[in-house]
Amino acid sequence: MIIIGSDHTGINLKKRIINYLYDKHFEYADVTNFENQDGDDYPDIANIVCRKVLENMSNIGIAICGTGIGISIACNKVRGIRAALCTDEYMATFARKHNNANVLCLGARLKVAEDKDKIEQIVDSFINSFYEGGRHDRRLQKIRDIENMYKEDGR
Ligand code: RB5
Repeated sequence: MIIIGSDHTGINLKKRIINYLYDKHFEYADVTNFENQDGDDYPDIANIVCRKVLENMSNIGIAICGTGIGISIACNKVRGIRAALCTDEYMATFARKHNNANVLCLGARLKVAEDKDKIEQIVDSFINSFYEGGRHDRRLQKIRDIENMYKEDGR
């Protein structure tokens, strides 16, 4: 299942992506299905999306804010989440193949979001690319090791 959510800046982009997912018959859940509110800060959205993604190993998330930066920082604070801010198909493909990313972050206020079909191509690349494993397992383990190193310190 594809879990999608956005802060107030990304509502229109989210709707556009949902239309695309619907047309392509992808199963999705919009976890921020509310209209523009002051309280919809990107860390809250990141938390809602990531919590849902972690419910099932096969879930992936799409998390949107203005630049995609804030939401990707917040998503990457959640243990077990590997969030990738992608601005082209190459990034989206290799975020999956090499980094086993489970959340795609997008920036609704970026130039790329104005290009017709570009965001849809990025989303498509992310959904249709798969982790290659092998030598990348070692590197992902090193990321988990870093997570564990800073578990209690918090700095
Ligand atoms: C909200 O104004 C904006 O700061 C947010 O959407 C995002 O771009 C943060 O990184």
